This record gives sequence, C-alpha cells and structure tokens, in this order.
Amino acid sequence: MGKINDLDINNWKELTNIWTDSLWIIPQRDNSGVHNAHYHGNFVPQIVYQLLSRYTKKGDFVLDPFSGSGTTLIEAQRMRRNSIGIELQKKVAQESIKRIYTEHKSGIIADTFVDNSMTFDTNRILSTYNIKNVQFIIYHPPYWDIIKFSDDPFDLSNSKSVSEFIDKYRKVVNNTCKILEKGRYCAVVIADKYANSQIVPLGFYCMQAMQEEGLILKATIIKNFEETKGKANQKALWRHRALQNGLFIFKHEYIFVFRKGF
Ligand SMILES: C[S@@+](CC[C@H](N)C(=O)[O-])C[C@H]1O[C@@H](n2cnc3c(N)ncnc32)[C@H](O)[C@@H]1O
Repeated sequence: MGKINDLDINNWKELTNIWTDSLWIIPQRDNSGVHNAHYHGNFVPQIVYQLLSRYTKKGDFVLDPFSGSGTTLIEAQRMRRNSIGIELQKKVAQESIKRIYTEHKSGIIADTFVDNSMTFDTNRILSTYNIKNVQFIIYHPPYWDIIKFSDDPFDLSNSKSVSEFIDKYRKVVNNTCKILEKGRYCAVVIADKYANSQIVPLGFYCMQAMQEEGLILKATIIKNFEETKGKANQKALWRHRALQNGLFIFKHEYIFVFRKGF
C-alpha cells in the first residue's frame, strides 16, 4: 500500500503539531475564519485537522455522512482535501455551504448532498466527481437523543430506543463504507449518555457495530469535553447529583479509528 498522508517521516522530529497520544486535551476550539460554535452539536475543527493529517493526502476525498454545520468540509478545504458532506436537514446544509464558500480554495471540491445517509445512493458521489472511491470517512452522528436535531423520522436523534439508534448508525456505516478505498481509514466521534439511572455506552455500541461491519479497530482516543453553556449553569446541581448517587460527570468523548481491510 502507498503512503496515506503527506507527513515527512524522515523529519518526524519536526512534526510537533501532530498528536500521537491517545488522550486529547483541547482547551479551546479553533474559531478562526468561518469556524464557529453556533451549531449546537458541532465538533471542534482540531479533531478533523489531526485525523486528516494522519490519514489523508492533499487531493484525497473525505466523506462526512453527518456534516451538520460543515466543520469537516471547512477544515478539509483549508488542508486542500476534497470533501463531501451528507446532511438530512436542507437549511443546515445550505447554511454550511454558504460558510464553506466564503473560504473556498480554487481547485478544491467541497459539496453537500441533502439526504438520508442510511439510503443515499453513494454511487452518485463517485459519478458526480468521477472518482472510484473516497479516502477517509468521519462519522459524527447524533449522540442518540441528547440533542434532537429535527423532527425527521430518519434523523438518528429521533430513534426510539438505543437498539434502533445503533441499527440506523450501522446502516449509515454499511452504506458509506462501501465507497471507502480498501486499506484506508474512517473514524467515529461519539460520547456515552446517562438515562434511567444507568450509563448507555453509545461509544462502545457504535465501535462494536463498526467492527461487525468488518472494519478493523486501530485507535481508541479519549478527548476532553468542555462544559456546554446549559451544563455550566447547572454545575452545582450536577456535582450534588454525582456525589449523592455515586456518579461521575461526563467530561470526555471518544474518537475511534478504523481501517478498511488489512
Ligand atoms: C452531531 S451533528 C454533526 C455536527 C457536525 N460534525 C458539525 O461540526 O457541525 C449530527 C448531524 O447529523 C444529522 N443527521 C441525523 N440523522 C441523519 C441521517 N439519517 N442522514 C444524514 N444526516 C443526519 C443531523 O441533522 C445533524 O446535523
């Protein structure tokens, strides 16, 4: 297999901006240019930067089947990678495209399809851009129903049970991984949730679903999770609950990296 990134390993001591530890503490999101935190439920651009640095080269195609406000696409085009998003909500997708195009780099594709990632005909991506496959996929699904993104029944955040959520997530992985080049990588960003006095380990369920889809687990990364505005107001209440009930307040999420094929 050829090289999968543009890092100059002969000068590895110079690559100080590339993280190789499995614990990612990111004190502040990168809000440069059109990146901002306005979309409730977006992720920080640094996650995309680190993953694309390690697993893609300039000119590669990156797919984001839950593209939301377009963080992946904005970061990808800055890094001169082509990127395709799929987003269920038309308005959200349109707004993301507007922002992405204010930073558009010539010769780089950054485009979004408004559709359901479970059933979207992924061959349309291949035929539209005249490519055989994509080189990286980043999945940032809803964390089940923690944030309800829309009223659309196909929206994963409207799943009625955890098994329905995982079933739908698995369909997205199955439908999109078929266009991932063999030997290349994909990653999921996900957190657990707490319901009915117990932890629902969404991260581990998603990991297992991806392994069952034939993907090979290559990295488990823990990233710190800064307080949302809502939680900050309820800090004392959460601490009281934690102390009273033997709980711990979530301060982390997971990034699991997989490879397609050996
Ligand atoms: C956690 S957010 C992703 C946020 C994104 N990473 C960002 O930085 O803005 C999940 C997104 O998935 C979308 N979504 C949910 N179900 C979907 C489906 N079946 N197909 C496509 N998109 C879906 C939601 O509308 C939401 O925008």
